[in-house]
Amino acid sequence: MTETNVTFCVNGEDRTVSGRSDIPLLYALREELGLKGTRFGCGDAACGACTVIMDGRAVTSCDLPISAVAGKSVETVESLDTDPPHPLIAAAIAQQAGQCGYCLPGILMAAKALLDRNKHPGRAEIIAALDGNLCRCGTHTRIIRAIEQAAGTMAEAGE
Ligand code: FES
Ligand code: FES
Repeated sequence: MTETNVTFCVNGEDRTVSGRSDIPLLYALREELGLKGTRFGCGDAACGACTVIMDGRAVTSCDLPISAVAGKSVETVESLDTDPPHPLIAAAIAQQAGQCGYCLPGILMAAKALLDRNKHPGRAEIIAALDGNLCRCGTHTRIIRAIEQAAGTMAEAGE
């Protein structure tokens, strides 16, 4: 496999990673860029733990070769760590949406992609948006409540 340099935008900042062109984006984020918030679950595009947003769309990063990310814009869960925290973070804490929390980075990014394109999602739309994200602790109900709360907060703030 060829070695390559790939430049892409991560959380608003241009970054370049070097190495094999087939390295998954997840590994580049965690190991090359030190962004450890995105989780490795199944490594097979089946659990959603590694979900990030690429050009506005929620994607799994464990099966996405870095060569496919060149020139794209990627958002990871670290982008929600703002001051004050993104409404999704505040709502997840308020609703105690996580038990072990392993699934949450991926779920929060799937939820952010939803709220970025639909400011007033219904419960069915939230459930559909999370279809690819597993939570083994079974906190789905609290997660959905948190996303509803975040949507309400963002609507009140006119975001
Ligand atoms: S680790 Fe990527 S979908 Fe499971
Ligand atoms: S809170 Fe444990 S997997 Fe979701």
